Amino acid sequence: MKKLTSYLLCLCFILSVFCICPEAEAETLTVYHGDGSQAVICAESLSEYTNNGWYTAPVVTIYTIDDVSSVVYKSDAQIHLSNGWFDAPVVKIYKPNGETSIVYKSDADIHLSEGWYMSPADFPKKVKAVALTFDDGPSRYTPQILDCLQRYNAKATFFVVGNCASTYPDTLLRAYNMGMEIGNHTLNHPKLTSISSSSVSYQLNTTADIIENITGARPYLVRPPYGSYNSNVLKTANAPFILWSIDTLDWKTRNAQKTVNSVLSNVKDGDIILMHDLYGSTAEATEIIVPALIERGFDLVTVSELAERKGTDLSVPTAHSRFK
Ligand code: NI
Repeated sequence: MKKLTSYLLCLCFILSVFCICPEAEAETLTVYHGDGSQAVICAESLSEYTNNGWYTAPVVTIYTIDDVSSVVYKSDAQIHLSNGWFDAPVVKIYKPNGETSIVYKSDADIHLSEGWYMSPADFPKKVKAVALTFDDGPSRYTPQILDCLQRYNAKATFFVVGNCASTYPDTLLRAYNMGMEIGNHTLNHPKLTSISSSSVSYQLNTTADIIENITGARPYLVRPPYGSYNSNVLKTANAPFILWSIDTLDWKTRNAQKTVNSVLSNVKDGDIILMHDLYGSTAEATEIIVPALIERGFDLVTVSELAERKGTDLSVPTAHSRFK
């Protein structure tokens, strides 16, 4: 009895799927599914099928690097594939020397065993690391510094002045999109110990708003202009203050070689290095400092990453001049 019931159920299913066309001469057609299957159906039930993921011509699934997939007609696939879509799921992989590649997800393991990584965050960490920081920009010299950092796959932190961020929004966005850390250096660079608490709040909040409007992310690190702060300022800002352990005096010397020397003759693990992306000489110095530090075995990381590597909690509003 049980067997008969399942037989009948099965028959019903077959009838409903293939639909007995009411008249022998009724028109049939072939429909195709995104999963690769196909079926012959009555023309009159076409809309039921097309509303449920079936198509009237062969289709394939295509993918973007961001894991978006789409079902398209096979005949159009080539156009999509030449426009940045892929015929199988893909991932972007990275090498410590800055190389990147897009490969099929199914092959990723092979590449990972050959010195590639799923993310720069997975690179084997060197023992030594420092944070390059650039203040008072963005300026017309910032792109040259970003080009250099990009070339060596190095990171830095930019403590931007709100008014300059408004003048160079594209440069700021580029820095942010490259994984640079963006910190707050006030709206127009006053000495925070010489202004009222409400002015300190205004200086920092307005700048954070400007940065957030451009990058979509609100900065939480603050560098007080001239390194000048006291407990009131710190309390009002309620944010970690990032000072420095190597002052290149690049603003004073405006000399690339002197800036290079001040870094390379003093640098040690955990240092925070102060420069200003306002000068051609600093951009020039950066092009020497970055490869030289990498050559000496330093990872160039953002302030937040340096703090994390050294086990320093940045959620507490206190001042830091280096991380040990
Ligand atoms: Ni400054």
